[in-house]
Amino acid sequence: RLGLMTKRLGQNIHYEESVDSTQKIALQLSLDGAPEGTVVIAEEQTRGRGRMARAWFSPKYTGVWMSVILRPNLLPQKAPQLTLVTAVAVVQAIEELTSIKPEIKWPNDILINGKKITGILTELQAESDRINSVIIGIGMNVNQELEAYPEELLTIATSLRIESGNRLNRAELIRLVLAKLEHLYDLYLQEGFQPIKLLWESYAVSIGKMITARMVQGDLYGKALGITGDGVLMLEDEAGKVHFVYSADIELQ
Ligand code: BTN
Repeated sequence: RLGLMTKRLGQNIHYEESVDSTQKIALQLSLDGAPEGTVVIAEEQTRGRGRMARAWFSPKYTGVWMSVILRPNLLPQKAPQLTLVTAVAVVQAIEELTSIKPEIKWPNDILINGKKITGILTELQAESDRINSVIIGIGMNVNQELEAYPEELLTIATSLRIESGNRLNRAELIRLVLAKLEHLYDLYLQEGFQPIKLLWESYAVSIGKMITARMVQGDLYGKALGITGDGVLMLEDEAGKVHFVYSADIELQ
């Protein structure tokens, strides 16, 4: 038992030893009508998925691999805001459990010392112009030691254990993330994106800096001005033209 502090999120938990992807299972559960707040958690993923069709390394017993089903009554274009809501929840939970202050790199990377500690994947099911469900996948590197990482990940990924020197209780971390997420999600539904935006900006590393946005259409170089009220990144190129970036990988210069 997780001993949850939440009213809705996680009241319905599917706990699995090993799955291909919690995201895939949550998507199926949501199609089958699972209620809002249903959570899928696994000890290991054999085909964890990241953004842009990348693989997400999810070794056994060391991380938090979970997917949360939300059913907000929102327009589909608002769904990316939930990624930012989740990022703030994760950062607040990490801050409360460790002495670390993580940073957020737009849109969804949570970093410590420039290396990735958490990734968030938001997937949407919509009918006509209404959201049916949003599946929020959260992958947190918690108790991995350096040796656990394949060579190619060593320079880009880290874990809470590596950074803090301590093992963390993963159940406690899950409880806290769900509690923070429920609180911020309620705040978002009641007051809109503005209060979340302010919190998010207080953790954001890229704002005000020169960045390269790598997109399917090509790269764009310029200054990250901030995010719009919809959570879209504003980038000013060297000619002074402002671009709105909906989806990209950001590289800090
Ligand atoms: C990213 O940074 O690219 C997003 C990574 C998201 C990983 C999580 S782990 C739980 C859930 N299940 C998946 O297959 N992916 C997400």
